[in-house]
Amino acid sequence: MTKPTPNLSPLRAQFPALQETDAQGQPFVYFDGPGGTQVPQTVLDSMTGYLTQANANKGGQFITSRRSDEIITEARQAMADFLNAASPQEIVFGANMTTLTYNLSRSIGRTLHPGDEIVVTRLDHDANISPWLALEEQGAKVKWADFDIEDCRLNLEHLASLIGPKTKLVAAAYASNAVGTINPIPRIAALARQVGAWLWVDAVHYAPHGPIDVQALGCDFLVCSAYKFFGPHIGVLWGRLELLQALQPYQVRPANPNPPYKFETGTANHEGIAGTLAAVNYLAELGRRYGEAFAAETAAYTGRRQALKQAMRAIMAYERPLLIYLLTELQTIPGLTIYGITEPALLAERCPTVAFTKTGYTPRQIAAHLGQRGIFVWDGNYLALSVTERLGLEGSGGMVRVGLVHYNTLAEVDRLLAALREL
Ligand SMILES: Cc1ncc(COP(=O)(O)O)c(C=O)c1O
Repeated sequence: MTKPTPNLSPLRAQFPALQETDAQGQPFVYFDGPGGTQVPQTVLDSMTGYLTQANANKGGQFITSRRSDEIITEARQAMADFLNAASPQEIVFGANMTTLTYNLSRSIGRTLHPGDEIVVTRLDHDANISPWLALEEQGAKVKWADFDIEDCRLNLEHLASLIGPKTKLVAAAYASNAVGTINPIPRIAALARQVGAWLWVDAVHYAPHGPIDVQALGCDFLVCSAYKFFGPHIGVLWGRLELLQALQPYQVRPANPNPPYKFETGTANHEGIAGTLAAVNYLAELGRRYGEAFAAETAAYTGRRQALKQAMRAIMAYERPLLIYLLTELQTIPGLTIYGITEPALLAERCPTVAFTKTGYTPRQIAAHLGQRGIFVWDGNYLALSVTERLGLEGSGGMVRVGLVHYNTLAEVDRLLAALREL
């Protein structure tokens, strides 16, 4: 296979968890990234630093409170850079993507009228479905866009046919956390815009794999979670400023009525925000060190924004040959079925997240077999319930999911393949 270029494996040294070994001294293999990635030392340091030197609530007249405010301001700017937001005021921190989506969906629900329609997709994680289904209580109608079960690509014609004058919101994933499909968000945004509907994008799965530019995408809201891109357990929402200004929040009376604060209910996870700042800076540094080859194609951005875009291009370039190798080799294993895109010409529409089943074994048995060998993968539906239901796999334990991120290596893929061939 082509060697992954640029070679990002030296970065592994920065991740304490990647140095862990089993009783035989073999390093653990973390293919559980889609469920949560490991963190570099700088993220740990930033969180400990916050708790030792800046641990205070906001807006106080003393040094730790001022430091705390500065860190949160810096982290908001870092996330604005990561997503290419027009302003840090558009960045809302929250517990996680699910909680942020429920929170904002209720505010959006306040603008809806009986008969208004919301379009969701069967390819989505349930966190981008159930909050919208909950609005049916208020008389909204939810329509479901299908995907093609042959290669798990969203059926855009079907989606387009569901969008009409009554559509108020379209909810779609940037990428599927189950089968890895990357959706054409700009095209979906154009469909939503034609009828004046808002587009809510779940970028949780996509965020560690590729560059995000909310302004270029043409969406109205985008949510992600720092723990999927090498940070701590925290969720981040971007919304168009005028929408965040207009929507009515659920907040306590004395709270700040302006965005982004009006959607940040209660006291935030400050140390998590500090860790998120460090995760973005880790990626920016990756971009500066390994992403120079992408300088020309990211020249529309400057400073940390360009470094971040370079980082995500470098990550894509590194992950792609690993994905191709994994897919090619998995296809040689008897009885193994891969779900999602395998066609080489379509791989630009796929994250390096590969779900499969194998005859004679349940996904749980395969995950346990791999787990005993220090290889960490998930099995089941990973909360993408409508994907496993649509594929007819919900009753049989779902699928095994192998998720590659930039700290994974060819040698680790070989260990996985060898362990699978033992079955
Ligand atoms: C695509 C996708 N959306 C949403 C979520 C939920 O994110 P959170 O755990 O931040 O609520 C996940 C988590 O796995 C996910 O993969």
